[in-house]
Amino acid sequence: MTATSKPLLERRDVAVLVPAAGQGLRLGGDVPKALRDLHGQSLLVHCLRALAAAPSVGLIVVAAPAAHLGAVRAQLPEATVVEGGSTRQESVSNALAAVPASFEIVLVHDAARALTPPSLIEAVAAAVRTGHDAVIPVLPVVDTIKQLSPDGHVLTTVDRSQLGAVQTPQGFRRDLLTKAHATATDAHTDDAGLVERMGLPVFTVPGHPEALKITTPFDLLIAESILRSRN
Ligand code: C5P
Repeated sequence: MTATSKPLLERRDVAVLVPAAGQGLRLGGDVPKALRDLHGQSLLVHCLRALAAAPSVGLIVVAAPAAHLGAVRAQLPEATVVEGGSTRQESVSNALAAVPASFEIVLVHDAARALTPPSLIEAVAAAVRTGHDAVIPVLPVVDTIKQLSPDGHVLTTVDRSQLGAVQTPQGFRRDLLTKAHATATDAHTDDAGLVERMGLPVFTVPGHPEALKITTPFDLLIAESILRSRN
């Protein structure tokens, strides 16, 4: 075996950007969401542990709230920590700027998805490695979805068999993600949206229920029971 043909699991060729600079207003509390406690550790520490347990991950760049840079650096000595922006998109751009050119695969992973299994991180990275330039994890939609008017009346029922609930990590060839952010003209709630706007394909892999986005106090309860079941 040559030095350039290491087994896949030994490659640490993936950089992960972690936007963690949101306030988390829907969760309440007096610290930013990423710093909220879950079972004795911050959401961000849980998130970083999952990333560090994924064999592909060689670099983690966290975009942290400006007022908490010191605290985040102290909690995460193994990560590069940069200042987040006023939107998620800006936070991702700031983190992307800190990735050395040697990383050709970049994942973007919300700190709020703190309990994401390492297997999902690996599945997204593997799909990029095998030639898909943009990859997202998707779960089927279980509820019936209706489009509503501003005054709360139903306009139409959407065919849920054609819908997917999108998670992170989302994976990209680094040059595509860089171009997508550099040419962005409008706001998107995820990075794949920037690639779609360029008219380029986005591949999907199956998501995982434990990669839920911890958004409300109810989600924290679910997260606690996931952790209990793991222990
Ligand atoms: O607001 P939303 O729930 O979509 O945020 C998703 C992720 O983006 C969270 O992990 C949050 O911390 C992050 N974010 C950020 N910078 C912002 C807003 C949100 O890094 N200005």
